[in-house]
Amino acid sequence: MKILVTGSGGMLAKQIINHFKREKISIIGLKREELNITNSTQLREKIETHEPDLIINCAAYTKVDMAEIEKDRAFILNALAPYFITEICRKNNIFFVHISTDYIFSGEKKEPYHPFDTPNPLNYYGLTKLYGEHYIINSGCDYLIVRTSWLYGPEGNNFLTKILRATEEKDEIEVINDQFGAPTSTFTLAKYLLKLIEKNAHGIFHLTDRAGNGISWYTFAKKIVEVFDRKLKIVPISTKDSIKRPAQRPFYSTLDISATEYFLNEKLPYWEISLGDLRNYMII
Ligand SMILES: NC(=O)c1ccc[n+]([C@@H]2O[C@H](COP(=O)([O-])OP(=O)(O)OC[C@H]3O[C@@H](n4cnc5c(N)ncnc54)[C@H](OP(=O)(O)O)[C@@H]3O)[C@@H](O)[C@H]2O)c1
Repeated sequence: MKILVTGSGGMLAKQIINHFKREKISIIGLKREELNITNSTQLREKIETHEPDLIINCAAYTKVDMAEIEKDRAFILNALAPYFITEICRKNNIFFVHISTDYIFSGEKKEPYHPFDTPNPLNYYGLTKLYGEHYIINSGCDYLIVRTSWLYGPEGNNFLTKILRATEEKDEIEVINDQFGAPTSTFTLAKYLLKLIEKNAHGIFHLTDRAGNGISWYTFAKKIVEVFDRKLKIVPISTKDSIKRPAQRPFYSTLDISATEYFLNEKLPYWEISLGDLRNYMII
């Protein structure tokens, strides 16, 4: 099996490529400079050159607040570009794997979102990701959509790296304590994505670290400071008392991973365990 990954300079793509290579999978990544997925001619040329059996689309517009301002850019990248890719996949019999998000849900539920719960995004980023899903589902190509949440990893601009940076620059920070979800290590995502592909998963799957009914950003921040043995006072703050951001976030976006666990016949790791594993990886 030959795999091509788009957006390979990104946080998740890097981890997927590292993990799949370790598992001796033939995988090649193309960065934005090598393949701009909004350019359908370039897409066709590159895919014809590399002749993959499977494409993992990690390229995305991920700046949630900026998406409220740069609406066209976000729509083209998160919705239209996946459509361009599916057209090529359908014609060439290539399996398409796409990464989507918990932010397609509104957060009104009080228990984890099932893959077939009705999406109703609160922000434009979530809406563009939902449109992307619709284009893929209706494309007629073979696909796997993996929705994940609160991704963090050893590098890039994510919640873990922000808190670690804060421990070096500040004595205290305020962190929101009334938005709940499941933090997910890019290591978990990469590992179990490969398992899903190997078990021939099709359709929509939820893949996150296990966080029960969800934890708050505040709990996550406190745990990071503890696990990394740093010093930083974490002050809980409600969304309404925090700095107003352009994009609204759901108060609740934990994804129900039980169908994925059932399909894999395996439990996904607890979020604290994944955080500890990442700490060990970063310390060594
Ligand atoms: N981060 C999260 O918390 C989270 C949560 C749920 C789901 N997801 C989803 O997970 C996936 C991966 O996210 P991530 O956190 O790894 O994002 P990321 O680090 O921002 O990576 C996205 C990559 O896409 C590239 N890119 C941008 N425009 C492109 C274009 N026109 N053509 C090709 N590549 C382009 C970016 O390149 P430049 O850096 O050069 O712009 C970047 O390398 C996304 O689909 C995202 O929606 C993320």
